[in-house]
Amino acid sequence: MNYRLSISKFTVLLLLIFCLNKGYCHSRVFHLDDYGAVKGGKVDNSKALLKAWDDACKWKGGSRLDISSGPYLVNAVLLVGPCKGPIEFHNTGSLIAPLGLRGQYWIEFRYIDGLTVSGSGSFDGRGPPKQGSPYLPTLLRFSFVTNSNAQDLKLINSQTTHFNLFACNNTKISQITISSPGDSPNTDGIKIGESNGIIISNSTIASGDDCVALLTGSKNISVIGVTCGPGHGISIGSLGGSPNEHVEQIFVSNIKLLNTTNGLRIKTKATNMVGMVTNVRYENVFMDGVQNPIIFDQNYCPPKTCKQGSSRVQISDVKFRNIYGTSKTNVAVNLQCSGRNPCNKIELKDIEIKYQGLKGKTISSCSHASGEVYGIQVPKPCI
Ligand SMILES: *[C@@H]1O[C@H](CO)[C@@H](O)[C@H](O)[C@H]1NC(C)=O
Ligand SMILES: *[C@@H]1O[C@H](CO)[C@@H](O)[C@H](O)[C@H]1NC(C)=O
Ligand SMILES: *[C@@H]1O[C@H](CO)[C@@H](O)[C@H](O)[C@H]1NC(C)=O
Ligand SMILES: *[C@@H]1O[C@H](CO)[C@@H](O)[C@H](O)[C@H]1NC(C)=O
Repeated sequence: MNYRLSISKFTVLLLLIFCLNKGYCHSRVFHLDDYGAVKGGKVDNSKALLKAWDDACKWKGGSRLDISSGPYLVNAVLLVGPCKGPIEFHNTGSLIAPLGLRGQYWIEFRYIDGLTVSGSGSFDGRGPPKQGSPYLPTLLRFSFVTNSNAQDLKLINSQTTHFNLFACNNTKISQITISSPGDSPNTDGIKIGESNGIIISNSTIASGDDCVALLTGSKNISVIGVTCGPGHGISIGSLGGSPNEHVEQIFVSNIKLLNTTNGLRIKTKATNMVGMVTNVRYENVFMDGVQNPIIFDQNYCPPKTCKQGSSRVQISDVKFRNIYGTSKTNVAVNLQCSGRNPCNKIELKDIEIKYQGLKGKTISSCSHASGEVYGIQVPKPCI
């Protein structure tokens, strides 16, 4: 046997072992249709979907679960990992929830590293619910998901939050379209908690509550190129409901807020719980007819949860740069900070928010807020 040949044979053998071990040999597509799924919206296809997921998740070489038509009715499903290789949930068709579904989630992905959810198809939660219904399911949920992507999805008519990320790291969300009626209650667009390294980009969110809500444990989150409205704007909080709630390292840029109730908001409860919001930068934000363009509310006190007073959550190092457009109310910059923990290091640079309509002008209102101002200032600043 020739020496060169045995080296190349050895290399091939090594590659083969590596490939079988790591599962990079070849990827495989699993079709929901091959699992007996029935379209039309009458038959529950949860079992078929779970079986297809299970096979795809076990496949070592990287896999894709394809949903290419529909509508497929599916009940609440929990799609769990860990999987043997990277996995893609590719929906170019449509999935619909049963009417009046109750529970914590409709479609949840949990314990997965290397997940992609994609395909430009729709996920229809069939909300809004009847007034006052309890136990409403989040439409799409990622929990304990890392190094993943959600891209090119249509999330529509959730009964409550459309997309929730909980305990996720290093995940990109892009080209998401969220739409629900502007008067559907509690229908947040994207809600994030206990997560690190999340980028939301190039998305359009129209719903009845916050377009993006950043709850405690949100760290290193970027929101870039998002159009929001109708809805309640980009929101941090509320914080202060439990001890040590914190949000930090937040970057919000190139945003359009159209006819929203709030624009850029930080909300903390007036309890005794300490907490922190720090290192937040908002830049290049356009607003059209927003009711409360820039608002800090540290006196938030929903009935029965606190005594009226001021919050102990510390807000510091929050920068507003190049924020412009129109306000529906006179108070365009409203910084109501805590008397017990005043806001500090607030920066206002190039703010130009005019009153929408012919008469009247915008004003600022501040309490316990300090920082620096630079450049254009409409309204006249009060820090
Ligand atoms: C995310 O990162 C944090 C620390 O940065 C770690 O404690 C946590 O376990 C990670 N989450 C997952 C799901 O891997
Ligand atoms: C923030 O998150 C992004 C996206 O996951 C990551 O690339 C970056 O390294 C993180 N930055 C820091 C300072 O943790
Ligand atoms: C943004 O989304 C549009 C349409 O949804 C797409 O054509 C474009 O390539 C996207 N851009 C980026 C940077 O993702
Ligand atoms: C703005 O929002 C209000 C309340 O949601 C709605 O009644 C109104 O039609 C909207 N206006 C525009 C121009 O979208």
